[in-house]
Amino acid sequence: MHPFFALPAVAADRWQMQQGERFALDGLLAQLRPPLAIEVGTFEGGSLRRIAAHAEHVHAFDVDPRVAGLADEFDNVTFHIGDSAELLPQVLAELGREGRHVDFALVDASHTRAAVRGDGAALLAADACRQTVIVFHDSANAEVRAGLDDLDLPGHPKVALALLDCVPGYLVRAHHDPELVGQAFNGLALVVLDDGRDPRARGYDAPEFVPIPALHDAYAGAHEQPARAAGKAAAVGSAAAVSAVVGAAAGALLARRLR
Ligand SMILES: C[S@@+](CC[C@H](N)C(=O)[O-])C[C@H]1O[C@@H](n2cnc3c(N)ncnc32)[C@H](O)[C@@H]1O
Repeated sequence: MHPFFALPAVAADRWQMQQGERFALDGLLAQLRPPLAIEVGTFEGGSLRRIAAHAEHVHAFDVDPRVAGLADEFDNVTFHIGDSAELLPQVLAELGREGRHVDFALVDASHTRAAVRGDGAALLAADACRQTVIVFHDSANAEVRAGLDDLDLPGHPKVALALLDCVPGYLVRAHHDPELVGQAFNGLALVVLDDGRDPRARGYDAPEFVPIPALHDAYAGAHEQPARAAGKAAAVGSAAAVSAVVGAAAGALLARRLR
């Protein structure tokens, strides 16, 4: 077997991200080596394992009590079980009072517009987040994207860089579950807070480039939805082809639902 398939970013089977996202996240963390990190949305610990491998300490948030069962695996993670809408602002305030600073945050919990806006706003407002790299997962999804747009990142005084399509996501064009057809999933947004940075040195998605959701809209507008049966065949074929190269992640991404 080629050693590629044994790399931590490839071999992990309980990580709900596609390969490009995994390499981007792991590469970012390997260079940042954040002393203090936050993860909002842990599920089976796929992304947490890589964050914990590179950070000194991680605060992990998840509403699902089963996530606490991962605790034995880590000696540098504090688990917070409950709704991030309540717990994240509380813990950030506590860290601020202690004079601690959050260096990195991954937001990948509830993907509703309100929840993404809420988790993002909590990080933006926190005194503990002044020079912080934030990654949002599923930035190609319409709900998530709307939540990010609500934050008006280019207008926020702390935001020095906002690349909402840093890693592009996928539009589902065919699937046996018709509910998924026409929806976009995956994608990583990269947001860097650097309070006090010269506004002229800030950077955002270039207006010269077409955003990924606009590409998806254009595709959807130009193609009639395939019939359900044809869709099923196409999805199976495409998932098999991708899986042959990158493992099971492609199937996982289509199988998962937004939480
Ligand atoms: C997509 S999964 C996280 C995947 C993980 N980051 C990975 O890459 O493997 C989303 C997680 O967010 C949690 N979640 C959903 N809504 C939440 C909320 N309001 N507060 C905290 N966690 C929430 C779910 O229980 C689920 O475990």
